[in-house]
Amino acid sequence: MKILTIAKEIQQQIAVEKKNGKTIGYVPTMGFLHEGHVSLLEKARQENDIVVLTIFVNPLQFGLNEDFDSYPRDIEHDEKVAQSALVDYLFYPSIEEMYPDEVSVKVTVQQRTDVLCGRKRPGHFDGVATVLTKFFNIINPDKVYFGLKDAQQVAVVDGLITDFNFDIDIVPVETVREEDGLAKSSRNVYLLEEERACAHELYKSLNLAREAAQHGVDNPEKLVSLISNHIKNYTTGTIDYIEVYSYPDLKPIEKVSGSVIIALAVQFSTARLIDNVTFLVH
Ligand code: PAJ
Repeated sequence: MKILTIAKEIQQQIAVEKKNGKTIGYVPTMGFLHEGHVSLLEKARQENDIVVLTIFVNPLQFGLNEDFDSYPRDIEHDEKVAQSALVDYLFYPSIEEMYPDEVSVKVTVQQRTDVLCGRKRPGHFDGVATVLTKFFNIINPDKVYFGLKDAQQVAVVDGLITDFNFDIDIVPVETVREEDGLAKSSRNVYLLEEERACAHELYKSLNLAREAAQHGVDNPEKLVSLISNHIKNYTTGTIDYIEVYSYPDLKPIEKVSGSVIIALAVQFSTARLIDNVTFLVH
């Protein structure tokens, strides 16, 4: 595995790989790698000649009161994980390398951001789209891998790739969970012991709502109150949002039918957790 920190260098090396006819699979991350990230790397390994991983905690996508400074980091651990996932190139740039001057051009996301995390974290997806535009130009991948845990991110990146004519296939990957159902997340380390003990109730509440929908409950508000009651009864978290939309276009629906997403965000003392289920109702 080659570890590089300079954009020009990895750009040149990948150009050589491409000239030799190699396909490039790319997994963007902010590090503190866990099995969720590894499942993206495994999929990329199966489908490409070369696997590129980037680790960069992107300041542009964090709000002023968010956890940029305290976001968990452990590059030594990450290098080992990347090595055993058979990554070919690990690109780990500094902030100065990615943003050497004051940012002069930013990408603004116009669609699919007025709901869910987009509404609660203004500017977040602009930061994600801006950094990914840079990485797509640096890495020039054939395929890029994203987790469905961040389903809105998948929808936004899909729009970015289409609108900016990137010649890249986006590959969505199922959410990897702990044994009790809690979605794996770098932020789970923030949870207090008693919070960790009840955090799996988030996924449980989503499944209860999915089952209700599949058994004929077609009123989105009913599903929201079912989830809300469950979370209030069984966790110590505070609900940030629980929302039901069509998927992947993220439009409000009056009746639960077709392809649907139910997504939630819950704030614990120092961790904000998100999760979702997507499913079909006939
Ligand atoms: P990060 O939160 O590190 O996530 C990197 C990728 O791993 C994302 O595609 C995310 O959806 C996926 N992922 C996280 N937890 C997962 C799980 N439990 N199962 C499956 N996939 C999971 O998302 C970001 O970083 C950033 O916004 C980034 C795209 C790197 C841009 O800065």
